[in-house]
Amino acid sequence: MRIWVPMDSAARALGAEDVVAAIRAEAARRGVTVDIARNGSRGMIWLEPLVEVETDAGRIGYGPMDAGGVAAIFDGGPSLGLVEDLDWMKRQTRLTFQRCGVIDPLSLPEYEAHGGLAGLRRAIGMDQDAIIDEVKLSGLRGRGGAGFPTGIKWDTVRLARADRKYIVCNADEGDSGTFADRMIMEGDPFCLIEGMAIAGIGCGAVQGYIYTRSEYPDAVAVMRRAIAIARKAGVIGPDVMGSGRAFELEVRVGAGAYVCGEETSLLNSLEGKRGVVRAKPPLPALEGAFGRPTVVNNVISLATVPVIFEKGAACYADFGLGRSKGTIPLQIAGNVARGGLFETAFGMSLGEIVQDLAGGTATGRPVKAVQVGGPLGAYLGVDQFDTPFGYEEFSGQDALIGHAGLVVFDDTADMPGMARFAMEFCAMESCGKCTPCRIGAMRGVETLDRIAAGDGAAVALLTDLCETMTDGSLCALGGLTPYPVMSALRLFPEEFGAMKGAAE
Ligand SMILES: Cc1cc2nc3c(=O)[nH]c(=O)nc-3n(C[C@H](O)[C@H](O)[C@H](O)COP(=O)(O)O)c2cc1C
Ligand code: SF4
Repeated sequence: MRIWVPMDSAARALGAEDVVAAIRAEAARRGVTVDIARNGSRGMIWLEPLVEVETDAGRIGYGPMDAGGVAAIFDGGPSLGLVEDLDWMKRQTRLTFQRCGVIDPLSLPEYEAHGGLAGLRRAIGMDQDAIIDEVKLSGLRGRGGAGFPTGIKWDTVRLARADRKYIVCNADEGDSGTFADRMIMEGDPFCLIEGMAIAGIGCGAVQGYIYTRSEYPDAVAVMRRAIAIARKAGVIGPDVMGSGRAFELEVRVGAGAYVCGEETSLLNSLEGKRGVVRAKPPLPALEGAFGRPTVVNNVISLATVPVIFEKGAACYADFGLGRSKGTIPLQIAGNVARGGLFETAFGMSLGEIVQDLAGGTATGRPVKAVQVGGPLGAYLGVDQFDTPFGYEEFSGQDALIGHAGLVVFDDTADMPGMARFAMEFCAMESCGKCTPCRIGAMRGVETLDRIAAGDGAAVALLTDLCETMTDGSLCALGGLTPYPVMSALRLFPEEFGAMKGAAE
């Protein structure tokens, strides 16, 4: 009897290790031999720990499981049915996450048996410019927030002249309500390694770094073990899969600052310096890590590269909407009935995601607003629910998709309080390099306190301050904090004691 229990940290936080111990004890009591395999999460967090039993028909799910419920697994008690047939699974287009939750994350043979390494194998037979062209053709854009075309970034690094180049994976994942990077690192780490190796070969970089956060100890442990396995198997190292080309990889762990997710601040932190933002130019693609040309890409951008090379750029670009090509792993969180990760082609409407997929709020109250794209993302109201999920479609609403995290709020949300929190967060996380952010965020908190105390005239001051922060900040921390603040004001002016239209 083969039973899968996720080793993903969300499942572990919800009791997966107790479930493993209970399954062993129950099997021993019944004299049944069980083979407990560990997988990543399927992304249905409300069903975690989701236990799966292998049968001839496929894997049958039981969840959310707890130690007291394991007898049902042995008795053939009520189950969720075939996991692949669950509505949440069937409706997805799983490309980047095709193996996550399916395989043992640390089994290279299972990785290969499910399509792994096919992309790298193809890439090592290609010239550097053909590799870059493939990425350009796929239409892949950065999944870390800015949506910059990945192929163009790679080309800049490829064409730069230097004795050394680097591939840096941004795995800081600081946005509220996001966990896609963590899920890949814990559930399909070879996929990230493969994507980084392709990037290294394409750009002529022989060293890669995965920069992640100390709050992700499980991801760090899994990634380090996967790197050791990949190195031993010759997937990375001095001779990548017999290509004669070298690529080495190392995990570095940050000390914990939101701004260290910003690429130049990340590079300083990676080099052992204080995580303060660097002025651009020079671009990291020309002068990045240790002053050398560097690709900085998000985990999901890099982990999507293998499937592009496996299935072909045209196939990937066939999914999506307009200039938002391919798929996006939505991360649905906050006050929702069903939270989790859902990978789909760009273009699904915000309303379908929130009301249909997520099932509305957990409290059963009406949805008031959704913050999309982390702490710097705008709030969108129910009357914006027709907006298709895409880069341009969201910027048309003065919003951003960021790392595709959605945090849902019901009608009890205190929007001036949320606006104050955005300013407070910026003040706390500011690297201090520029005045509009360092001082502006503090003044923002004070101004929102004046508004809360009934000083309606301070609304104009807040609007003015937000303009200064947008126009004058050196990086997007100060530059985008006005998004949540102004969108809250625009959507719910009466809560700020302002007349509708005051924020326009
Ligand atoms: C304050 C701030 C925090 C950021 N945090 C992250 C992060 O946690 N992860 C990430 O991939 N990008 C983050 N970014 C975006 C990066 O600066 C950069 O655009 C990204 O890593 C580039 O990779 P991509 O092109 O693959 O998206 C952040 C940006 C800012 C301004
Ligand atoms: S906007 Fe804020 S975080 Fe960014 S450089 Fe200026 S002070 Fe630093």
